[in-house]
Amino acid sequence: MSTSTATPYRHPNPKEALPEIVVPHAVPLDERVWVPQADNVWFRPLCLNVSQGYWTNLLRVRKSGVLSCHRHPQAVHGYVIKGSWHYLEHDWIATQGSYVFEPPGETHTLYVPDDVEEMITMFHVNGVMYYVDSEGNHTGFEDVFIKLDMCRKHYERVGLGADYVDQFIR
Ligand SMILES: [Fe+2]
Repeated sequence: MSTSTATPYRHPNPKEALPEIVVPHAVPLDERVWVPQADNVWFRPLCLNVSQGYWTNLLRVRKSGVLSCHRHPQAVHGYVIKGSWHYLEHDWIATQGSYVFEPPGETHTLYVPDDVEEMITMFHVNGVMYYVDSEGNHTGFEDVFIKLDMCRKHYERVGLGADYVDQFIR
């Protein structure tokens, strides 16, 4: 497409503005970019926002994988890139192309059934993942700093280097 008639903005961005992030292969070509989270569960960081306390990532779950029961104190946005999944607590199914809004106060357990080889979903998670058992008792949590630490340790271990994750931090 010709850009000859388009006029770019002629001024610099505010000096306090952070640099953009562009990830050419959000679904990575290099398997090492996926950070193991649990049996058959991985995440891939896209934006780890340490100034506002959120993270945007791809979640990959293979068949029979479970993302443990958790409560969201803040909203989550999801977009299903591949495969399908559901929550044990709901009767709807998130299929490829679906958008999902998870409201604050929602507690659920993500499950990928046997007949789905693999699902990949982009999630934007604000605040924390507050893990609970089926009675609601607290069992653990993750915030952006814990995700960041998981990335650093994994990337060091697989030879990408701990600082590989730095490109995703804002
Ligand atoms: Fe969730």
